[in-house]
Amino acid sequence: MLELSNIDTFYGESHILHQVSLAVHDKQRVAVLGRNGAGKSTLLKSIMNAGTTVKGSVKWRGRDVSKLKAYQRARDGIALVPEDRRIYNHMTVQENVAIARQGVSRSVAMTEARAILGSIEMLSTLGERMGGALSGGQQQMLAVARGLAAKPELILLDEPTEGLAPVIVENMAADIISRCDANQIALLLCEQNIWFARKCTSHVYVIDSGRIVFDGSWEQFAEKPEIAERYLAV
Ligand SMILES: Nc1ncnc2c1ncn2[C@@H]1O[C@H](COP(=O)(O)OP(=O)(O)OP(=O)(O)O)[C@@H](O)[C@H]1O
Ligand SMILES: [Mg+2]
Repeated sequence: MLELSNIDTFYGESHILHQVSLAVHDKQRVAVLGRNGAGKSTLLKSIMNAGTTVKGSVKWRGRDVSKLKAYQRARDGIALVPEDRRIYNHMTVQENVAIARQGVSRSVAMTEARAILGSIEMLSTLGERMGGALSGGQQQMLAVARGLAAKPELILLDEPTEGLAPVIVENMAADIISRCDANQIALLLCEQNIWFARKCTSHVYVIDSGRIVFDGSWEQFAEKPEIAERYLAV
């Protein structure tokens, strides 16, 4: 459904991604691992066309979308949850979710937001609370819930577990897997937490200095411990 072929990505003159090829199939869940500065966020921005210049082919549902702007890609079914969560502190949790739902009335958006929140264990009792009053982990999950509210076919998550305690990371994995399964949403997850990435996905890429250095199943990843040693901080 998503296919990047030999893309090169630039910020102005800075050449960040080099000949990156990657695919996410229908309903598939895929991880991209890489250290700080490896190019994970740049990869997600390239898919969304958010602030980057991309050369090479980006196909979405078999169609070249190189010319489509970020909002058009969002409208076509791709949702990005960026690494800064962009929670509105002075809106309720429900309103934070409802705001992502375009093209329906406010009351429908609020009803859908309540349903999404009710299905996410970490947030199910927090709908009326102010966004700014949530813990870090709850805010991360709220950002994911907002991504889901847009009813994407593919959700792009940028390090949702950053800075979270292990027990919260476990809860988040369970919530993400169940929501993606229930709504048949494909996932592209950028992470440094290998445990979480393995739990949530079936296929893994490793990126280093803007290049893909590994592409395979988690079994193949486990057979090559030198990959993690060399390219990830383990
Ligand atoms: N707006 C920008 N302009 C110029 N260079 C940038 C910009 N954003 C990121 N970079 C550079 O691109 C490279 C990749 O950064 P990127 O944010 O994609 O890494 P990352 O893997 O997401 O890292 P982290 O785990 O720290 O979030 C880095 O060298 C970074 O300095
Ligand atoms: Mg990043």
